[in-house]
Amino acid sequence: MAFNINVNGNPHSVDVDADTPLLWVLRDVLGMTGTKFGCGMALCGACTVHIDGIATRSCITTVDSLGESKVTTIEAIGTTAAGAAIQKAWLDHEVVQCGYCQSGQIMSASALLASNPHPTDADIDDAMSGNICRCGTYVRIREAIKLAAQ
Ligand code: FES
Ligand code: FES
Repeated sequence: MAFNINVNGNPHSVDVDADTPLLWVLRDVLGMTGTKFGCGMALCGACTVHIDGIATRSCITTVDSLGESKVTTIEAIGTTAAGAAIQKAWLDHEVVQCGYCQSGQIMSASALLASNPHPTDADIDDAMSGNICRCGTYVRIREAIKLAAQ
């Protein structure tokens, strides 16, 4: 079945089953591999994208649930003010280790900063608690979010 979806400002028609997760539409149909698969059960945050600006787990978001919503992925987050500030802070603080979790981390952090320009430590912990990093970059992530907020 064909679904019309909007990703990073571009319309796409994708012919997939209605219950296909957005993650696989992005990666396998549209070839946008910046969004990562980790657990497939909304437990790790690796697959985080924005849907109408809200950080959302694409592994459990079915394509038929999107409707007119606007999807933003890591490929375009740098075109937003919050996303650009987060990406710069990530580089300044050398946050990344292996990198696998980091697109999801950046998407969650960008959504936080867009909705809350001056987050407290508690706000950061609350917004980022669902994004797991096996390399343990949590301290640098927190510091980078604070830098971006400046
Ligand atoms: S792959 Fe979606 S939360 Fe882990
Ligand atoms: S940087 Fe390696 S899992 Fe987070």
